[in-house]
Amino acid sequence: MKKQNPTKTNHWQKLQAHFLQMRDVKIQDLFAQDPERLHKFSLRANDILLDYSKNILVDETVRLLLSLAREMDLQGAIESMFSGEAINETENRAVLHTALRNLSGGPVYVKGADVMPDIRKVLGKIEAFSNRVRSRRWKGHTGKPVADIVNIGIGGSDLGPAMVCEALKAYGKDTLQTHFVSNVDGAHISETLNRLDPETTLFIISSKSFTTQETMTNAYSARDWFLDAAKDARHVAAHFVAVSTNLEKTRQFGISEDNIFEFWDFVGGRFSVWSAIGLSVACQIGFEGFEAFLAGAHEMDEHFRHAPFEKNMPVLLAMIGIWYNNFFDARTEAIIPYEYYLRKLPAYLQQSHMESNGKCVDRNGRRVGYRTSPVIWGESGINGQHAFFQLLHQGTSLIPATFVGPAIPINDLGDHPDILLSNFFAQTEALMKGKNEEEVRRELKAKGLSEPEIEKILPFKIFEGSKPTSTILYKKLTPHTLGALIALFEHKIFVQGIVWNIFSFDQWGVELGKQLAGKILSDLGQEDLSDTDHDSSTLGLLEAVKDMRDK
Ligand code: F6P
Repeated sequence: MKKQNPTKTNHWQKLQAHFLQMRDVKIQDLFAQDPERLHKFSLRANDILLDYSKNILVDETVRLLLSLAREMDLQGAIESMFSGEAINETENRAVLHTALRNLSGGPVYVKGADVMPDIRKVLGKIEAFSNRVRSRRWKGHTGKPVADIVNIGIGGSDLGPAMVCEALKAYGKDTLQTHFVSNVDGAHISETLNRLDPETTLFIISSKSFTTQETMTNAYSARDWFLDAAKDARHVAAHFVAVSTNLEKTRQFGISEDNIFEFWDFVGGRFSVWSAIGLSVACQIGFEGFEAFLAGAHEMDEHFRHAPFEKNMPVLLAMIGIWYNNFFDARTEAIIPYEYYLRKLPAYLQQSHMESNGKCVDRNGRRVGYRTSPVIWGESGINGQHAFFQLLHQGTSLIPATFVGPAIPINDLGDHPDILLSNFFAQTEALMKGKNEEEVRRELKAKGLSEPEIEKILPFKIFEGSKPTSTILYKKLTPHTLGALIALFEHKIFVQGIVWNIFSFDQWGVELGKQLAGKILSDLGQEDLSDTDHDSSTLGLLEAVKDMRDK
């Protein structure tokens, strides 16, 4: 992979010059000048339409952005990823979540060995297990079928399956509920288990490493809760399964060999929902649904790998993000779903973007001199309208936003779908068009306000407009579409990491906090803290806790 500083490339320089011509351009004027704008700046891949016409860009912008991607050898990098090169250099690992959904039948090699037979073997195990659970043939220790599945995991071992299970709830079985416990605050597991019956509850302990403190603490508490009722450790086998790359540790926990679902170090935690980490998904929607989910992602993989950049959805989405992040200096990017079932999507994408590209050291080990990942945030659109949209419309920051929503709703209830859709489209239109002084004056006059009244209220009623948005409109939320949607964002993240010349697939930044938490945990048990080397703030807080707890 090329390891060059993107800011030193020919096209970065050209984009800087181009930015000076574009920075004051208004999107509403671009629409007025070019009736073909939507046609030019949109594309479809199967059931997904990307409309990126409501952005501050013209043909030349797209041409330069794609040329930058070429200059950074994006095509070479894509091939390196798909063909199993160890592109995660700091951990010396391949990056092959795409192999998990490789339905082409072809081999995928890592260090000379085809990984597909193992992947298929585990898929077979997922199929058999999910079939047994769903058909009520998997029995708990008292002979009752499973009614509740609790996935215990955190980060990628939680956010992916939790988001997908929520998104595809409508495709689930009424007799089977899925729950997700991630927080080590005892409230999370207690509140979850309080409502459940140990005889009919199945736990999936999901942890790539099987050493994550939060997950293991919750897993042992779940085991204690279960054994409190079941009394005999031999019953654990019927109620606990594990998903991990660390088979040794899963055995130590007491999970029987048959109940261990393996995955591999070439699957990053935040890209692992396609592996057995998606076991809860397969149990909820059935294996056929899980396969459709994989197939949707595979279709997007093929699109990403083979479509020319001009017609490549992930590439375009990524480069538009770079345009705002690095040239317009936009510090955040919003992801706003207009589908209730997708309300967990922003949190999921927050991890995948920010843990991947929140890096300040480039692929040569040098500090970067440019901005990498913006802050990714978001919330369900309709609720957001009544919360943070004020700032999008009239705030001082430029916040590019991606709106995501369906043409066909899952719940076709009365007026609900059209009201939702009209708000979805109205917001991107309003953000783009704004309302100018003249329009506001006309409106206020028509309402019968006097001239002095109009003058007073006028500035507050003006919307500058030209707030950039991209719209991802899909036909209907199905397992297949969701798979494609997630893969679209995964590849967007990959493209941005390549152009920013950073390693997207490690996460060293989470280590320090873990180390210090271990130290503080042992300090919490000490009577005398005078020997510790904490700063005065942390020491003071520790002492305050002791004081509060003592009293
Ligand atoms: O927060 C760091 C991290 O390693 C994430 O990347 C990962 O998804 C999460 O912790 C959980 O890790 P594990 O699956 O090993 O428990």
